[in-house]
Amino acid sequence: MKIVSVVGARPNFMKVAPFCRALKTYPEVRHVLVHTGQHYDVRMSEQFFKELGIPNPDINLEIGSGSHAEQVGRTMMAFERVLREERPDWVVVLGDVNATCACSITAKKEHIKCAHIEAGLRSRDMDMPEEVNRLVTDRLSDLLFTPDRLSNANLKAEGVPDDKIKFVGNIMIDTLEREREKAAALDINSIVRENAIDSNAEKQRCGEAENYSKENSAALPFCHSELGNQGYIAMTMHRPSNVDQRETLVPAMRFFLDEVSKEYPIVWAIHPRAQKMLKEFGLWEEVVSNPNMILVKPLGYHAMLRLNMGARLFMTDSGGLQEECCVLGTPCLTMRWNTERPITLMENGGASILVGNAVEKIRDAYHSQINAPRHAMRPELWDGHTAERIAEVIVNH
Ligand code: UD1
Repeated sequence: MKIVSVVGARPNFMKVAPFCRALKTYPEVRHVLVHTGQHYDVRMSEQFFKELGIPNPDINLEIGSGSHAEQVGRTMMAFERVLREERPDWVVVLGDVNATCACSITAKKEHIKCAHIEAGLRSRDMDMPEEVNRLVTDRLSDLLFTPDRLSNANLKAEGVPDDKIKFVGNIMIDTLEREREKAAALDINSIVRENAIDSNAEKQRCGEAENYSKENSAALPFCHSELGNQGYIAMTMHRPSNVDQRETLVPAMRFFLDEVSKEYPIVWAIHPRAQKMLKEFGLWEEVVSNPNMILVKPLGYHAMLRLNMGARLFMTDSGGLQEECCVLGTPCLTMRWNTERPITLMENGGASILVGNAVEKIRDAYHSQINAPRHAMRPELWDGHTAERIAEVIVNH
């Protein structure tokens, strides 16, 4: 049996790692790993392959950045050539990125069976490119591997036959469980120092801090070497809906700069898109010169997990981080108006609150959660063995 699986962007990599490992236990399976090349920076891509022991991709389509149509179109053209050459029995796609959608369409047009890992999630927000990708991929796939029972219900309501839906749990948690010990052993201050965006400013800040006397320490600007003691807030924010418009990004940034950062340091692992927009809206200089806005480059898997484990609060618009916060118990303000992952919400026992991008809502939730205790929750089958269940179903299908 030959299986081609496809990854394209950062959130795919932690999902494919356990799947590659699970397939290795089937000697009869020939597995071809294709990287579309949507994410190409070392920090957005290669680093995850190294850290998580993912084999080097057999094929890289090198499609790079571009508009959605450009990315999807280029991926389909290049992937069609791969499929004509490889003629696999199955194409396996993961998550909801452009590669997921482009390659499921291409597979079906080439009459090849397609399996979707992380099927059935719905935000019902058609302005999200990921929702379009999810709908298209699920409509076309022959096997739909769901992370929770809410996703099964979504698929059934859309008329997907029962025998295509396989409830297997959340594959990302396989990676979390395998890697959490390694992450826990990392030193948070070294992570911040090694990944700081402006390392000269950073050195100067910590140098100054060390020269202060102990009595004066309350008046110190936060220094990265103190993160562990002070407590800190972790942040990621990159969705077009949060960073692309001035009217949305500027008020949110004012809240972070003028209120939150006066109470706690914010460690922001900043995505290239957010960095670009801060510069465009004239906020970049103020952000980097605020000693309590600690900008770090996109973090590797273990560093991000460690950051999450130690944070008082996570402010994010990422889907995957909502899930990791749920299992680690980090209170999470999800800066979106909806989520395709409702199982992670506090009303369902999880750690996340939807706060959208209106400052009043973010502020209220911030005050209600900043001193809240950690509360870990593990949904059904988020047990670290999802990839094994998936491999078994595909191989025996
Ligand atoms: C993609 C995914 C999104 C996911 C996110 C995580 C889709 C539709 N979206 O969005 O679901 O949450 O990845 O990171 O697939 N860029 C770099 N280096 C890179 C890759 C991108 O600098 O290695 C820059 C590009 O110039 C581009 C911007 O980042 O303008 C956005 O990249 P893109 O791949 O278009 O989408 P993401 O916003 O990262």
